[in-house]
Amino acid sequence: MTKYYLEGGNRLNGELSVHGSKNAVLPILAGALLTEECRIGNCPRLSDVTAACNILTNLGCKTTREGDSISIDSRGISNCEIPDGLMQEMRSSIVFLGAIVARCGHARISMPGGCEIGDRPIDMHIAALQKLGVAITSEHGYLECSVRKKLKGATISLPFPSVGATENIMLAAVTATGDTTIHNAAREPEIDDLAGFLNAAGANIKAGDNGAIHIRGVPKLHGADYRIIPDRIVAATYLCCAAITGGKITLTEVEADHLRSVIPFLEETGCTIAINRGTITLEAPPRLRSCGMIRTMPYPGFPTDAQAPFMALACLAEGTTVFVENIFSSRYKHAAELARMGARIKIEGRVAVVEGVERLHGATLRCCDLRGGAALVAAALAAEGKSEISHISHIERGYQDFDRNLAAVGANIINT
Ligand code: EPZ
Repeated sequence: MTKYYLEGGNRLNGELSVHGSKNAVLPILAGALLTEECRIGNCPRLSDVTAACNILTNLGCKTTREGDSISIDSRGISNCEIPDGLMQEMRSSIVFLGAIVARCGHARISMPGGCEIGDRPIDMHIAALQKLGVAITSEHGYLECSVRKKLKGATISLPFPSVGATENIMLAAVTATGDTTIHNAAREPEIDDLAGFLNAAGANIKAGDNGAIHIRGVPKLHGADYRIIPDRIVAATYLCCAAITGGKITLTEVEADHLRSVIPFLEETGCTIAINRGTITLEAPPRLRSCGMIRTMPYPGFPTDAQAPFMALACLAEGTTVFVENIFSSRYKHAAELARMGARIKIEGRVAVVEGVERLHGATLRCCDLRGGAALVAAALAAEGKSEISHISHIERGYQDFDRNLAAVGANIINT
């Protein structure tokens, strides 16, 4: 079980490039099932990307990585089932369901488990796919899905702008018969990226009024060569790591527009931010101020995935910061670990109240989930003394070369 060993106190200083977005590449890898051959560039080297490629291979596709590109040949699809082991590897495998049904006319997947950030129901996915003509039954922990003739376009209003449900509908609808409209669709940049990939492969997806998505079904998709957007949450995490250490960092290959709802909060803490074409430079004050209140919301609101790294910042900021986690039911597991470092955090349901302290001390810590683990690293970078962080496989799901990148800008961190 590998661990990070850190010694806090170094100010981060330097330049880092931001890798491709995990949450963009995963649904696009599912979309590759609808093409014969395609190539996806700027694919990060992450365990979740490996898990998605394993699912494609299990279905009979051929995937090959050349540098930061992954080529997928889906001509040999021979199976329409995702077994339990592969489904449990990555909770977001549910996004393959729409694509498998669209390609094969049926699918059998094991029910995705909950995960470390709360229960992860899929009722919206199921209701939407049923509206498109998928018959779904569940038995012995598996979903059996089948389409009598062909998927048929429909008008779907999501009760919540679910990212995964929006993606599943898009993947099922692009080759359905007729038109599909998604009302109350998710508006995350990763949704636009999926639409960009599918349209590059011959789909007909357009943005409608009030965030609706209009899809006109086409008979089939052709190949595509597509480059993934940068990972906005990884960018936000590195900015938090520089801010908490009183440092200065320049991020390259980043889309500042995707961080519109995060940057003002960093400025509120006293950081100065300069944005140029494709780069963001942050310079932190000697001590951060509290940024007041952070409510996580669907895009373009403050992203839930940045809540944990910002909580690490808040632990050392002057003043009290209040967090309201509106997206997931149990996304504060990192608070108990931060408290072991001397942080003062009170949790009441979806509300966390963080009273900034002068200093944190290093500790033996355990990652509970992907973004919570990144928050522990950020806190340990600014803590006095040594920290040891275990279960870093959570972090490796979403951050490529996290320790090496932080060491390259001055962090005292090793991975053994
Ligand atoms: C995606 O998860 C991301 N994952 C998450 O990132 C991200 O936090 C989330 O969107 C919100 O932005 C990927 O893209 C792989 P949702 P997803 O469906 O699709 C409830 C990370 O750290 N819901 O928008 O699962 C659900 O329980 C990960 O990179 C239902 O009730 O998120 C949650 O409370 C974590 N029924 C809320 O909606 C459903 O059928 C938002 O979930 C579906 C969702």
